[in-house]
Amino acid sequence: MDSITPNEIDIVRASSSKINEIDFENLAFGNIFTDHMLMCDFRDGKWQKPTIKPYEPFLLDPSAKVFHYGQAIFEGMKAYKDESDDVWLFRPDENFRRFNASAKRMAMPEVPEDIFLGGLHEILKIEKEWVRKGKGNTLYIRPFMIAIGTGVIAAPSTQYRFMIILSPAKSYYSGEVKVIIAEHFSRAANGGIGAAKAAGNYSAQFYPTKLANDKGFQQIIWTDDATHTKLEEAGTMNVFFRINDTLFTAPTSERILDGVTRKSIISLAEREGIDIQVRSVLVAELVEAAKNGSLKEIFGAGTAAVVNPIVGFSYQDEYFELPKIENSVALKLKDKLTNIQYKLEEDTFGWTVKI
Ligand code: COI
Repeated sequence: MDSITPNEIDIVRASSSKINEIDFENLAFGNIFTDHMLMCDFRDGKWQKPTIKPYEPFLLDPSAKVFHYGQAIFEGMKAYKDESDDVWLFRPDENFRRFNASAKRMAMPEVPEDIFLGGLHEILKIEKEWVRKGKGNTLYIRPFMIAIGTGVIAAPSTQYRFMIILSPAKSYYSGEVKVIIAEHFSRAANGGIGAAKAAGNYSAQFYPTKLANDKGFQQIIWTDDATHTKLEEAGTMNVFFRINDTLFTAPTSERILDGVTRKSIISLAEREGIDIQVRSVLVAELVEAAKNGSLKEIFGAGTAAVVNPIVGFSYQDEYFELPKIENSVALKLKDKLTNIQYKLEEDTFGWTVKI
């Protein structure tokens, strides 16, 4: 993608880089940002010229609508470096498409491709030293849009800010992931914003997730809001269940995020001849499978989390530990996926895009 050329973006270079101060071996997820950020404002009914400039805080009016009504969306993407020092994106068109679907649902203007994808290419060219070589090293990309128009009337803003910030990252979860199955709280409802990557979808999970954390669990597997009987997603990742040798994952819906890692795992499983069924798994089925020993694996799949095995789940205060298995399907699929992302295996799907 080179539909934006540098003379269509104002570029102000940082006077120095903080890269030599970073301990790339010990990164807590999402705490450190690179030297530059991309910023582009929407006003007077159109997108203005984007700017790449030194990473820094900015001022907003206290009445900006993002503070009052949470009119905000984001994406999560990653850049990877191969053995020849080339930098790659993974299915960026999918994130671009989903970002604008989220924008539409949140009554925000769509971001043109030359600003989203073209701008991303330009900032990655500037920050390519921040993408470290070696499997497990990534540059996490956070495109987002906020409503910056002023006034507390509850109506969509007329001014927006689109930004891209970049954060060197290793794994999202450190240590084992145990989950609680939701029995009362809900992440999303039909007709709501569950399928959008809207900021509020995440903050709404903070309180129930804190209650789960207090009990020693890292995540919640959300169930459908109407009956709490169907397993849906885990908030920071979509979820897969392996019962005997069949993998299951819930179909996307108005309540479930259409995860890029999720759909890639489905395609990889199909290619590897793994029996995969996209259908809702019932909580009762899962509990039964855990009791009779046919539940072999549960794992999450997401950009930040990659493919993350879940070691156990709690339901109605009963804890079910997953068996320790050899030949984990989760780890096999993770390996296939990351081999493609780091260009260690041929990308037969055409998912990778060079910067
Ligand atoms: C991602 O996987 O990129 C996400 O957006 C999840 C986020 C909560 C880290």
